[in-house]
Amino acid sequence: MAYNLLKGKKGIIFGALNEMSIAWQVAEKAHEEGGVFTLSNTPVALRLGTLEELAAKTNSTIIPADATSVEDIEKVFKESMEIFGGKIDFILHSIGMSPNVRKGKTYDDLDYNNFHKTLDISALSFHKIMQVARKLDAINDWGSVVALSYVAAQRTLYGYNDMADAKSLLESIARSFGYIYGRDKKIRVNTISQSPTRTTAGSGVKGIDTLIDFTERMSPLGNADAEDCANYCITLFSDLTKKVTMQNLFHDGGFSSMGMSMRAINQYNKSFEDCK
Ligand SMILES: NC(=O)c1ccc[n+]([C@@H]2O[C@H](COP(=O)([O-])OP(=O)(O)OC[C@H]3O[C@@H](n4cnc5c(N)ncnc54)[C@H](O)[C@@H]3O)[C@@H](O)[C@H]2O)c1
Repeated sequence: MAYNLLKGKKGIIFGALNEMSIAWQVAEKAHEEGGVFTLSNTPVALRLGTLEELAAKTNSTIIPADATSVEDIEKVFKESMEIFGGKIDFILHSIGMSPNVRKGKTYDDLDYNNFHKTLDISALSFHKIMQVARKLDAINDWGSVVALSYVAAQRTLYGYNDMADAKSLLESIARSFGYIYGRDKKIRVNTISQSPTRTTAGSGVKGIDTLIDFTERMSPLGNADAEDCANYCITLFSDLTKKVTMQNLFHDGGFSSMGMSMRAINQYNKSFEDCK
């Protein structure tokens, strides 16, 4: 059911690769809610993914960009404003990648060139997007900027590797830029800390299936899926959340507040029975 929450609003959605992507789900919901937007991803992702299908479905233009390149980001904003004939109201940063994780490098044997790339792609790109937007005065007053994070920013989760550092930085950038943008333009900046989700990036996380099972058992509401996450993003882009800023908002069925649940302890006990 749609509520026209984004009627009249214009946005940019970074990071939809295929139907599983969280950004894809956000784009579909934003379209349903009356928003218009451009879509951006890297030229490689455009070749490997199915973004054109989403663009056709949502009447959107694709603007290729590597989000580590300030020049590319400037192009995305300038072209988007040209298409809309005005400024932007909402932005989704749904970008993450660790070359160390991809290459199987462990946290105590990181390649530092790769580490720089992880931070640049997964965190600094968020700063670059906002710095470019601000210099171009590209976001309307009371606009909303959202990036996707993960609880590994606060807690250590086996195998999340240097992405944990990237997510900590991402959340810190949301606070630091949120202050500046809020003070000057009433623009809000938040991160959503999402449950583990089966996507292309998600399947790169070591032991993702076990992790998804564990968090499902630990969370009173169960894991949040990509569609749930999209719904939450829409509320943050809408005018219903105008005073929410500089927050890391857990969207994880309660996982981040749990220590041990009945379902998890039952499973743990079963593993002892198996050993008998
Ligand atoms: N899947 C999960 O379990 C999970 C949980 C919490 C947070 N997140 C976060 O959600 C976001 C979206 O990931 P997803 O799970 O939808 O996976 P996904 O693989 O569909 O999306 C990741 C996107 O990042 C893009 N990307 C990589 N390098 C880029 C670059 N240099 N410039 C521009 N784009 C680039 C990819 O092309 C891809 O579209 C990421 O920030 C991820 O860390 C995912």
